Amino acid sequence: MATVTSTWDVSDAAEKIGTVIRTDKDTLLSGARASDIRELMEARGVIVFPQINLSDEEQIAFTHTLGTFAHEDGEGSKEGKDAVYPITMDESVNPIASYLKGAFFWHIDGTMSDKPILASIMSARALAQEGGETDFCNTYASYDALPEDEKAAIADLQVVHAMWRSQLYWKPEPSFGELDAWMARGSNTLPLVWKHRSGRKSLVLGATALQVEGLDIVESEKLLVRLRTWATQPQFCYRHTWSLGDMVIWDNTGTMHRALPYDHKSGRLMMRTKLEGEEAFG
Ligand code: SIN
Repeated sequence: MATVTSTWDVSDAAEKIGTVIRTDKDTLLSGARASDIRELMEARGVIVFPQINLSDEEQIAFTHTLGTFAHEDGEGSKEGKDAVYPITMDESVNPIASYLKGAFFWHIDGTMSDKPILASIMSARALAQEGGETDFCNTYASYDALPEDEKAAIADLQVVHAMWRSQLYWKPEPSFGELDAWMARGSNTLPLVWKHRSGRKSLVLGATALQVEGLDIVESEKLLVRLRTWATQPQFCYRHTWSLGDMVIWDNTGTMHRALPYDHKSGRLMMRTKLEGEEAFG
């Protein structure tokens, strides 16, 4: 059901995930709707602002209206100053573009830390001619829909996550040096079911998930793949097909996301900002 005011038009993008808000820059930058946006972010996982066309500076200012601006490593973040981060496969724009190839597989950002980022905000600056959509799935809704016996069986399981596991998806035969460098990032053990302080629960899965503690490798892999397949069924997903100037926010604590393949020479360019995490996995 759509609610319409002069500059604030809200509608569902898909049944269990995603809200589209048609508004104007001034409304967004004023911060007047920040609490509505925060509520929708938690309730719906993803918010789309079609062709809102924020500049880098406006995106930074908008990010500040929603929470604490998170600085990203790399070229984008100059001496701790607020900056947008370029998501591209073009190494002349982002010298560590190859690390971003893990983004082509379902993931949650920040599984190497105990308190992952709250949200990402991404704007389309240049599109691929083909592909390059972004998929999102709602990990609250997919947990809620599990049969009760499955919920009981997984309630207390812990999963080891490692960044190198996600890198192996795009580079299955790295050199020893590459593997060693990835492995230097260590590992992190996280609950399979995140019991949020709100009382809601979500699944913690994705390409960094290496092994379920206490299960042998075959049983562990079967469980992780079965749950990922469950969580990414169409009824829990929204696929965003980008237009230039679109901006999308996703709640990183209740969704997974992935980019769909595109030509790495296409010039596709997204600008991303992030909000600092506010709740540890637990
Ligand atoms: C990301 O994983 O943060 C980027 C997704 C995309 O490029 O569509």
